Amino acid sequence: MGRIHNNLVQAAARVVLGAGLLVASTGCSRQHEAGQFEASGEVIALGGGDAGVQGACVLCHGLQGQGDGETVPRLAAMDRGYFLQQLENYDNGARNHAQMSWIAGRLDNQARVRLVDYYATLPLTAPVRAEGALPAPCPPPVAAILYQQGDPERGITSCATCHGARGEGVGTGNPPLAGQPAPYLLAQLRLWRTGKRYGDAMDAMTHVSRLLAEDELAPLAGYSAVLPGAMSYPELPATCPPARRPDPKSGA
Ligand code: HEC
Ligand code: HEC
Repeated sequence: MGRIHNNLVQAAARVVLGAGLLVASTGCSRQHEAGQFEASGEVIALGGGDAGVQGACVLCHGLQGQGDGETVPRLAAMDRGYFLQQLENYDNGARNHAQMSWIAGRLDNQARVRLVDYYATLPLTAPVRAEGALPAPCPPPVAAILYQQGDPERGITSCATCHGARGEGVGTGNPPLAGQPAPYLLAQLRLWRTGKRYGDAMDAMTHVSRLLAEDELAPLAGYSAVLPGAMSYPELPATCPPARRPDPKSGA
């Protein structure tokens, strides 16, 4: 995350300081009335709540919850049910990530719900890409076919069935893939294959990820990331053919 991280740390430090001064100047009387200061989702995102400032979501997920385009997912415009479940999963061990597991364990249910509400209302903006990062390569057509139609011969249900033809996500259980960084999506597919991420409804992802070949994972991650179901994420190089649903008449 390098330089972006440092910029964010500085930006967050300024905002946290600002929020602190605001609380100091205007929050005291209310704090006395309520007995306890109740931080909003935004304040927890900026200051980390009970996880402390090192747990401030903005440090890694960006000031707009846009992710870093690499290993840190977007949180903006995320479905509430899915988001809440993931914090639970980091806390109960179904997902393991040094920082996220530690942070989730320090957020009580009220703080989690506030964060979820806050991020659900943020509009999706494209991530600040790491300096020098190359544009995403064009996904090969095989990824489009697997994504949109699956592979009945191998028993692979199409990704579109659960994640939507445009990668927009379907309801509370099935998250959006569009607008998530391709390297993040690839890492998640590998975590399921190796049993390091689990706890999904009916083991859908454990099952499907193990039916895929290793060399299909990166093309699928690349294709899913740039599907048009995210409002703002113009990541495909202009020279790529549009990611279109294949003509059903020509496929299986
Ligand atoms: C030190 C960096 C860091 C901080 C701080 C941080 N995150 Fe994360 N977060 C990550 C990374 C990296 C991942 C992906 C981890 C993985 O591979 O499981 C992630 C994943 C997530 C996910 C899963 C998203 C998905 O699509 O499944 C949620 C939800 C989340 N973070 C919420 C938060 C919230 C809320 C906060 C603040 C209270 C926060 N994070 C603070 C780095 C961070
Ligand atoms: C039967 C439904 C189903 C099918 C089919 C399916 N998924 Fe999923 N997928 C899910 C669910 C449910 C989750 C969230 C699991 C959880 O809560 O941990 C998920 C999560 C994911 C994630 C992680 C997203 C994040 O933000 O962390 C990726 C990546 C993913 N799926 C890729 C795929 C790909 C690629 C395919 C097609 C080869 C596919 N999925 C097919 C149901 C499905």
